[in-house]
Amino acid sequence: MSEADLLKMAFEVRSRAHVPYSKFSVGAAVLTKSGKIFTGCNIENVSFGLTICAERAAVAAAIAQGEKELIIMAVVTDSSEPAVPCGACRQVMAEFNPAMKIVASTITGRRQEFNLGDLLPRARQGILDSFSNV
Ligand code: THU
Repeated sequence: MSEADLLKMAFEVRSRAHVPYSKFSVGAAVLTKSGKIFTGCNIENVSFGLTICAERAAVAAAIAQGEKELIIMAVVTDSSEPAVPCGACRQVMAEFNPAMKIVASTITGRRQEFNLGDLLPRARQGILDSFSNV
């Protein structure tokens, strides 16, 4: 499974985004350590704050199948620059892998890679710091 395959799956699921309000479709695909891929798209709601981002939908799909070791998150958007996960998604992703690799691409193939640790440093510092479930 190459990163190109992962991006392709993110590209495909993007077409199923529910975005009647922003019209901004996002597709995400997460690769797990066991080699499986789980996808998610953004799901908007008339009560705007209830919107679910594509990345969190992909994380939820993986966790529901018992896959917690998340290695790479691919994100595809129709934007001039690749879109990085929002702050809420970064925190949710960090729950499972604070050093997750992120590959962001536009639909035209403009691509950028990140490490979650750089986008969200010290994700757990001071929060329930006697617990460690990562
Ligand atoms: N969105 C995502 O799905 N992922 C991101 O990383 C950024 C934003 C969604 C939320 C909303 O449906 C739309 O994009 C515009 O913010």
